Amino acid sequence: MSSDKYLPIDAKHIPTEEPERQYFFMDLLRDELTARKEEEHREFTMHVETFGCQMNAKDSEKLAGILTYIGYTPVETEDADIVLYNTCTVRENANTRVYGRIGYLGRLKKRRPGMKIILCGCMMQEKEAVEKIKQSYRFVDIIFGTHNIYMLSELLYRSFHEKGMVTDVREEADRIVEDLPSYRKYDFKAGVNIMYGCNNFCTYCIVPYVRGRERSRNPVDIIKETEQLVSEGVKEVMLLGQNVNSYGKTLDPQVSFAELIRDVAKVEGLERVRFMTPHPKDISEELLREVAVNPKICNHIHLPLQSGSTRLLQKMNRHYTKEQFLALTDRIREIIPDVAITTDIIIGFPGETEEDFEDTLDVIRKARFMSAFTFIYSKRSGTPAADMPDQVPEEVSADRMKRLLETVGEVAGAEARKYTGQTVPVLCEVYKKETGCVTGRLENNLLVHFPGEESLLGKIVRVKLDECTGFYYLGTMV
Ligand code: 5AD
Ligand code: SF4
Repeated sequence: MSSDKYLPIDAKHIPTEEPERQYFFMDLLRDELTARKEEEHREFTMHVETFGCQMNAKDSEKLAGILTYIGYTPVETEDADIVLYNTCTVRENANTRVYGRIGYLGRLKKRRPGMKIILCGCMMQEKEAVEKIKQSYRFVDIIFGTHNIYMLSELLYRSFHEKGMVTDVREEADRIVEDLPSYRKYDFKAGVNIMYGCNNFCTYCIVPYVRGRERSRNPVDIIKETEQLVSEGVKEVMLLGQNVNSYGKTLDPQVSFAELIRDVAKVEGLERVRFMTPHPKDISEELLREVAVNPKICNHIHLPLQSGSTRLLQKMNRHYTKEQFLALTDRIREIIPDVAITTDIIIGFPGETEEDFEDTLDVIRKARFMSAFTFIYSKRSGTPAADMPDQVPEEVSADRMKRLLETVGEVAGAEARKYTGQTVPVLCEVYKKETGCVTGRLENNLLVHFPGEESLLGKIVRVKLDECTGFYYLGTMV
């Protein structure tokens, strides 16, 4: 590290270990901000916006944690001193949305010259995206990717003391940095990363290229974080990973995901544990049995199908057939009788025929998903599927999507209605003053609205499910 890089500090004073190095920059920034607050007699604000999945949402909590530590106050709109977009690139329209929003930030910055615009996350791991921003959106201050989010304060410090755009996008993660601050969206539930990256290389998916190879966190750190969260009032944790069944393979000694979840559930005061996402090809019986017997682990399995056609599944590199997937959902129901199974489905993968599509509908009916996230295939350059022949025309995909939604709606509606009349525990998540209603989440992820008070938020209460109105329930607390 050259000593002039971080003027006005001498490099020899900068710690080389993490997280000490980041706390060093956070403290410097905090001192500078305190002085500016006194000078200008005002608060300094930040707005962190998340695009994409739960992994990104979790990263955003860490990024917001760093900014609040420095002294920025979170606000709801982009009219702020710091605006940070944590981007997604899983589908083309995710990128398009981000470009539109960056243009808007440019106009805002004209009125607010001191504003810092920060872009990070999955889309920034793509060279073309970064090039485009460097050329067409030169007002952006900082760009970094998914592998060094822990460096936000260091990059922000550079941005305040160097001229021009600061970019630091890395090909691979060099380490997992623990013990940085976090600013959580909810008081009573939280995500906990158990692993990063993905080694599956499904042919449509950009994730392995932007999030790198699989790396597991140490169980000790996961348990410590869970204990900390519970001590702050968290009742439910969601263990997060692109492929949770591969948890622990990079650790020495190896630890299975079933062992990990069992240990997490032992944390005293924790009431619910969820996980996302398992890959159908390597769900273990050990895990299913643990879900069945462990009262804290929610009876909900999100099991991405992607396609019901064995021919397409092979082209997608999913490593299972239609029959194996159906055998798995049968087995899951045998071991966990009251389980809810949800899924992800892609329509219009290259070469998808009417017959392939019918197979997908067939699996939906037989597997009886409680809900499904449905996507039209989006070509991601750099992935093998982008170069496959027979890309499906848009009108055909749109028509199949319509029919897919009809079938999903029928099946999911029937699955959801099955619980009518039951009394179940729910976690109270939202209170609406106007209606005097609380929204609670069932173990199986369904929602129920019932008359209640704000003081119920974060509590688990028993609610009778009186009536199912499509995909949610109306109920009464008992
Ligand atoms: N096009 C459409 N959907 C995709 N997904 C991942 N990549 C693509 C793509 N290129 C979907 C998958 C995955 C979910 C997170 O996003 O269904 O499970
Ligand atoms: Fe999440 Fe994938 Fe989007 Fe990244 S690209 S935010 S990992 S869905």
